[in-house]
Amino acid sequence: MKKVAVIGSGNVGATTVYYVAEKNIADVVMVDVVEGLPQSKAADFMHTAPLRGYHGSIVGATDYEAIEGADVVVMTAGIARKPGMDRMELLKTNVNIAKNASRAVARHAPEAVVIVVTNPLDVICMVALRETGFALKKIIGQAGVLDSTRFCYFIAEALDVWPGDVMAMVLGGHGDSMVPLARYTSVGGVPITELLDDKTIEELAARTRTGGGEIVGYLKTGSAYYAPGASVAKMVEAVIKDEKRLLAASVYLRGQYGYRDIFLGVPTVIGGGGAQQIIEIELTEEERKALERSAAAVREGVTLLESFYSPGSDDA
Ligand code: LAC
Repeated sequence: MKKVAVIGSGNVGATTVYYVAEKNIADVVMVDVVEGLPQSKAADFMHTAPLRGYHGSIVGATDYEAIEGADVVVMTAGIARKPGMDRMELLKTNVNIAKNASRAVARHAPEAVVIVVTNPLDVICMVALRETGFALKKIIGQAGVLDSTRFCYFIAEALDVWPGDVMAMVLGGHGDSMVPLARYTSVGGVPITELLDDKTIEELAARTRTGGGEIVGYLKTGSAYYAPGASVAKMVEAVIKDEKRLLAASVYLRGQYGYRDIFLGVPTVIGGGGAQQIIEIELTEEERKALERSAAAVREGVTLLESFYSPGSDDA
């Protein structure tokens, strides 16, 4: 079996492991700095192996050496939002965590594809890229799959149809200005613009943009993890099995959509080795403007990052 290392054994990390294990996608190593946490969760998972038919192993470790040879590394370590917080407010704390994790990945799992989940993920991707020195296609931010599944669900709920029949595309950064694209969203092949009026679509898009915040508002002590975990597992599976799935993912742009030197969520073919293709789709003037607003928010995050962080240094 191939190997997946999940850094951070909090709710998102552990839920990712749950979905990976349920589908027997790979052997798993859970890593966390809190002694006993990854070990306890890994052992607990393995106790369910007879019940759930797991084929692979799940082990927990506090030492990064355990990620040796991983094919995919999922980075979830970091603090989560509290009510009223923007994801960008997590930056300072999470940069340090991401920096150390990225260096360990470069050292112990130099062949790995890195899926970044730690928020603000479009900015943290930049840290992962710089600290690992990996090829661009090997650093992918998870957000589009999550944002798209939320949009799909809200559409399915509004239309009273099976959620699995809804396909959606959400572009941009993983923030409140993300861009749900109604024109590229369909139910069983029927564009939602044929099924719902503009006002309803806008309401569902707005709910998608604040879908993460809705959960933080209920939970108060942290953020969502079932949908994030399932979203990460889908990406992990795509890489491990070289599925070549077209998913919204945060990738480093070099001119696509008119952007450079920035990670932004765009349609991407994910398979073995990471981001195999970046797909450029036609956007209307209005969609372009919405994407620009989202890109501006990410760029602001990168500027803030650069005010206190430079690659390879220990200052941050
Ligand atoms: C969310 C957080 C995890 O959108 O970013 O739920």
